[in-house]
Amino acid sequence: MLPRRLEPEVMDDPQEAVSYEAMDHSEPNAAFIERLMELGAAGRMLDVGTGPGHIPALLCPRIASSRIVALDHAMAMLELARRRVRQAGLARRVWLVRGDAKAMPFATGCFDAVFSNTILHHLAQPQWLLTEAWRVLRPGGVLLIRDLMRPVDAAQLESLVRHHAAGADASQRGMFRDSLHAALRPDELERLAHEAGLRGAEVVIDSDRHLSLQCRHRPR
Ligand SMILES: C[S@@+](CC[C@H](N)C(=O)[O-])C[C@H]1O[C@@H](n2cnc3c(N)ncnc32)[C@H](O)[C@@H]1O
Repeated sequence: MLPRRLEPEVMDDPQEAVSYEAMDHSEPNAAFIERLMELGAAGRMLDVGTGPGHIPALLCPRIASSRIVALDHAMAMLELARRRVRQAGLARRVWLVRGDAKAMPFATGCFDAVFSNTILHHLAQPQWLLTEAWRVLRPGGVLLIRDLMRPVDAAQLESLVRHHAAGADASQRGMFRDSLHAALRPDELERLAHEAGLRGAEVVIDSDRHLSLQCRHRPR
């Protein structure tokens, strides 16, 4: 079994942020938006680790009621997200906030939906994000924590890099390889969710390289 190998937490190097933004995330991002819609996401939402803001920019046109707080710790990423939000004309629906996913600057139960896309693997102790996401989500709200899934061995890892980062440059391929290496296995995520007290959240394997922890909307 491939051991978990951590990578740096926050992506605050401007060059790394620009390189990440330029990668083609269109297919997994579109699948992420579809899942949020299936789960019944609406209203006041939180995007944890928004990076360059791809998800809020895609989500707003799809869910008319959405107002999104987009949290990240990296100034370099927030600058890219600010530009994207402004260019999309979404400055009145997306608020960018600098803060730590492990200690979120938000009141308990204040969001109708909380989601994050590929940040969990950045954290040495991902349970803090899970605990915080659960705390700020209102009872019955939608949760979607999606991330990469660590491959079982080095051969599978290299095959995923070859297949999914074929058109990427060497630095982008390196980023993808390191992220796969830092990701969780489904049983590890299940155990962390259980320990963090996320009752009713289920782990779903989404693709050859993605998994999610999710809860669908339940009426109040
Ligand atoms: C791989 S990027 C994903 C960005 C975005 N969610 C997407 O789907 O494109 C991970 C993001 O999480 C942010 N991040 C990592 N640790 C964080 C923390 N403790 N608090 C807030 N943001 C964090 C990084 O700065 C980076 O922008």
